[in-house]
Amino acid sequence: MSLIWQASAGRPLKGEITVPGDKSVSHRAIMLGAIAEGVTRVSGFLEGEDTLATARIFQQLGVRIETPSPSERIIHGVGLHGLKASNEDLDCGNAGTAMRLLTGLLAGQNFRSKLVGDASLSKRPMKRVIEPLSLMGASLQSEPNGLPPLIINSKNTLQGIDYKTEVASAQVKSAILLAGLYAKGETTVYEPHPTRDYTEKMLAAFGWPIEFRPGHARLSGGHRLQAKDIQVPADFSSAAFFIVAATLIPGSDLLIKSVGMNPRRTGLLATLQLMGADIQKQNSHEQAGEPVADLRVKHVVLTGIEVPESIVPDMIDEFPALFVAAAFAKGETRVSGAAELRVKESDRIAVMSQALRELGAQIEETPDGAIIQGGNLHGGEADSHGDHRIAMSLAIAGQQASGVVQINDCDNVATSFPGFLELSKSVGFELHIK
Ligand code: S3P
Repeated sequence: MSLIWQASAGRPLKGEITVPGDKSVSHRAIMLGAIAEGVTRVSGFLEGEDTLATARIFQQLGVRIETPSPSERIIHGVGLHGLKASNEDLDCGNAGTAMRLLTGLLAGQNFRSKLVGDASLSKRPMKRVIEPLSLMGASLQSEPNGLPPLIINSKNTLQGIDYKTEVASAQVKSAILLAGLYAKGETTVYEPHPTRDYTEKMLAAFGWPIEFRPGHARLSGGHRLQAKDIQVPADFSSAAFFIVAATLIPGSDLLIKSVGMNPRRTGLLATLQLMGADIQKQNSHEQAGEPVADLRVKHVVLTGIEVPESIVPDMIDEFPALFVAAAFAKGETRVSGAAELRVKESDRIAVMSQALRELGAQIEETPDGAIIQGGNLHGGEADSHGDHRIAMSLAIAGQQASGVVQINDCDNVATSFPGFLELSKSVGFELHIK
């Protein structure tokens, strides 16, 4: 029996909150800490099922990882060539980041590994990493069409490449760079649009020579990683649900503390501001090399817009929340250039369109986006299709709908945002387990 939520009109959102640690940074902290020399201490680690899966996999590969307290990890790095084979499958669960980055990292080992995932991950495209890694000399086996499970064969001798990615994907870029650590010669990645640069920044912080700028990264194999403590910023993508909720709910005035503000993540801010949102950045500063800020969000009635395609990659995880914002805006919102949404944890264009329609929105699906007529939602029953971000977005819709919203299949919220239910209730949400 899967988890069902019931959401209904909540109070204005007030007070201060801190959302959990960044998922992308937490995955990478475990991965680089594991293959570094020395001990890496991670604070602000996301205790989500996705990042726990990554930690569990490295333990299977022989890395000692301690949990001195919740959201802290001590990783005893084994060095670049210190990982050990596991006879068991390496289970990435729901985590695309784990599977794609690990495919790159494991392609450079001299042992065989098998990466598996849950039903959703087993339908997600892996050709995008298989192709460049095969060009580097990796020997990878997948199900037909490049679907998981993936078997990474042993004794790979990798060769650096120059590669232009077809889709703007930090996961693909990172997989190639992690394989590049083990490759002979130079590896260069060019992207059609810059994506999040956490892998590059963390490699540099761990002492690996790397040259990078937006849309481009280059490194060569054969260096060493030196352990480095990592402070994980709060996840902008988790803050996004509260940014949208506080904007939508009349009377709200909410402060979201110390949010990671990497410019490749904050496209939703720019989009909401174009729609008229009142979001103030306060206390901007750097935390362990990443920009962070407190965000003060007040209620405003939004106006529909045509979302500029150039912003899409910088808000790729935020479309479920944006669709909800658009459903309550004045006028029409048009999204295009976002076909990648169809291969996320669910087909987010189809699933969000169907869900919002069930709740009373007028929404037309297009191949690479949607046209959403703003107005009000009457409530009803909708399915998240096991997609964490869709479940949380529909919970926001429920705060503003005139009737009750039932959301089916909410278990996977724990993949990225453990404690969402409690935190959201503490600032004014009406949200319960049915
Ligand atoms: C991620 C990159 C993005 C994003 C995902 C996390 C990462 O995926 O959607 O949630 O940590 O590198 P793509 O790189 O496939 O766009």
